[in-house]
Amino acid sequence: MINLEVDIAGVKLKNPIITASGTFANGREISEYYDLCELGAVCVKAITLEPRRGNKPPRIAETPSGILNSVGLQNAGLAYFMKYEIPFLRKYDTKIIANISGCTIEENCEIAKRLGNLVDLIELNVSCPNVKEGGVAFGTNPKITKEITKRVKENCAVPLIVKLSPNVTDIKEIAKAAEEGGADALSLINTILGMQIDVNTRRPTLANNTGGLSGPAVKPVAVRMAWEVSSITDLPIIGMGGIMSGEDVAEFMLAGATAVAVGTANLVNPTACVDIKKEFINYLDENNIDDVHEIIKAVKIF
Ligand code: FUM
Repeated sequence: MINLEVDIAGVKLKNPIITASGTFANGREISEYYDLCELGAVCVKAITLEPRRGNKPPRIAETPSGILNSVGLQNAGLAYFMKYEIPFLRKYDTKIIANISGCTIEENCEIAKRLGNLVDLIELNVSCPNVKEGGVAFGTNPKITKEITKRVKENCAVPLIVKLSPNVTDIKEIAKAAEEGGADALSLINTILGMQIDVNTRRPTLANNTGGLSGPAVKPVAVRMAWEVSSITDLPIIGMGGIMSGEDVAEFMLAGATAVAVGTANLVNPTACVDIKKEFINYLDENNIDDVHEIIKAVKIF
């Protein structure tokens, strides 16, 4: 039997496969395809204090080898999440990660405080590229990243993951700032800011003009950043960006990730997470690896 269990800041995940925030709703639809107990953790769609309608459509567009999105943090708000989504997810033997995406430091503190220990981990989203306030504005400045991490951490009853943006010159600097602020783990990468133009209408394909690129196109950037960040911190890393196969999971773990999040693949194939998990187990099996820890940070650098 292969040991798949991993530890993220003291929280044990039965396997390293997590759903990436915003690509899985909160699991209800996908629970009709497979048992959510298969997952190491479910990371839910970004939560704000009040409900948000999100950006104007169109807000998703296909690109070669990925998608652009500009959803704008649509969600039903914290009270709804606590009343309906936590009880639904708690029916499953999997961990819950709450992605919190307040517009201000105070809003994030308030959300973290009210969540208490009703979830297993909190992922502080300082990297959404699609909103005017908060999001990437926090996560591209090391001073603000440190400050917001410190303040939110003071209000957290569970370990705090900080989700980093790739839209920076040096992600290591931001990762260090999050660590200094007290982050217990890091997740990366969020989407890469992009734009697509319809040459017939001469208009951007997204009503917000720009959006975040995800999917296989971003994977080499994400793997490089996971590797860079793992070289400067011992915090556990959740790697993500274009994971479509079991070998992609192995690639992120070799680069230094302790766990991975599967995002865009869920939009292509509702059973992506379980298919990828099976492929990953096959990869471990074929390579005579009986403990997943054997491959974490095991890349042989030239
Ligand atoms: O627009 C969105 O809701 C995206 C959020 C994110 O990338 O964090």
